[in-house]
Amino acid sequence: MSKPLNVGLIGCGFMGRTHSNAYRKVYNFFRTPLRPVLKAICDVNADKAKTFADTWGYESVETDWRKLLDRKDIELVDICVPNNMHKEIAIAAAKAGKMIICEKPLALNVAEGQEMVAAVEKAGVPNLVSFNYRRVPAVTLAKNLIDQGRLGRIFHYRAVFLQDWTISADLPQGGDALWRLDVKAAGSGVTGDLLAHCIDTAIWLNGPIKSVTAMTETFIKERKHTQTGKVEAVGIDDACAFLARFANGSLAVFESTRYARGHKALYTFEINGEKASIAWDLHDLHRLSYFDHRDDSLVRGWRSIHVTDGDMPYMNKWWVPGLQIGYEHSFVHQAADFLEAVAKGQTVGPTFRDALDTQKVCEAVLESARKGTWVDVA
Ligand SMILES: NC(=O)c1ccc[n+]([C@@H]2O[C@H](COP(=O)([O-])OP(=O)(O)OC[C@H]3O[C@@H](n4cnc5c(N)ncnc54)[C@H](O)[C@@H]3O)[C@@H](O)[C@H]2O)c1
Repeated sequence: MSKPLNVGLIGCGFMGRTHSNAYRKVYNFFRTPLRPVLKAICDVNADKAKTFADTWGYESVETDWRKLLDRKDIELVDICVPNNMHKEIAIAAAKAGKMIICEKPLALNVAEGQEMVAAVEKAGVPNLVSFNYRRVPAVTLAKNLIDQGRLGRIFHYRAVFLQDWTISADLPQGGDALWRLDVKAAGSGVTGDLLAHCIDTAIWLNGPIKSVTAMTETFIKERKHTQTGKVEAVGIDDACAFLARFANGSLAVFESTRYARGHKALYTFEINGEKASIAWDLHDLHRLSYFDHRDDSLVRGWRSIHVTDGDMPYMNKWWVPGLQIGYEHSFVHQAADFLEAVAKGQTVGPTFRDALDTQKVCEAVLESARKGTWVDVA
């Protein structure tokens, strides 16, 4: 039989919804040994928190995250607030002996991330960072195919994450919804927000990144700040492109921008190996493209694998072959893997330490863009 696990979730915005949805569904589909109980929701905005509690079925509401951490009945703390709050909450949660799921990026920078890793490791609490794209079944399948050696030696890794929502110069920065444009709240722009996803997937699929050379641009230099009412300098990178060398000798190209008119959230990657290649596209997330040079030349070509069969990652828990799932399921899989691992006393990635590796690449990218030189990843 399953045991209840009391969840306290902080931040009832976009990610608060994806995580709450996951906690509500995970036991229904995965019969996890631990069954999440939505014990408390916390948000600085009391009205928002009350509506959220009613919508998702949380038993209680807090408006101060410290009070949530003081509660003896909370076992898992889930951090879904802007990036500048991650460190303080995570370190306090670790000291309080809570297990922690934290949204990405781990922190504002490497120094903060190191403190967070030290805190969770000292406390010995289970910890996970929500790089959820790893758990899209087609992406997990890509990992399995690479680990089986089907691609052979890998030569190239290519990833882009494109959006277009900040092109207007009238868009302010800071505060609710626009904290991503305020460097104090976000830490960086597309590098920490979007490329962090691409880097996490890349390290997971293709191993450590050794060195990078990058360029960034801030196209709109000043924006009104919603909190001060003043026009202030924009400190984030609007766009970033970088080259990288992996430890396995392969070469990479990464690009991200919020100025690619026509693209809302186009995350794609392609990996070229000696024997085969794979490609994935978030807009068609239940498909994996695969090319195998060993195929008979008469039928050789890119195939589009519909990732829905029961022997494909996670899919035997959902419907029947041929019926696909979507974005929100990656968070259900994340919750399922975490709860299984905690029940067995095992570790599941990406841990805070894994996410620190991604943070180090982000920091090297920003340093390289500033200096205009290649930078080794620390
Ligand atoms: N995994 C992903 O794909 C993904 C996608 C989006 C966002 N994120 C990450 O999730 C985090 C949250 O992003 P979001 O898009 O959900 O933001 P959001 O703006 O939609 O929601 C943030 C919520 O946090 C609340 N909040 C702010 N300060 C608080 C505090 N001190 N105490 C309690 N509540 C507070 C706000 O009132 C708001 O409701 C960020 O770190 C972001 O980078 C990850």
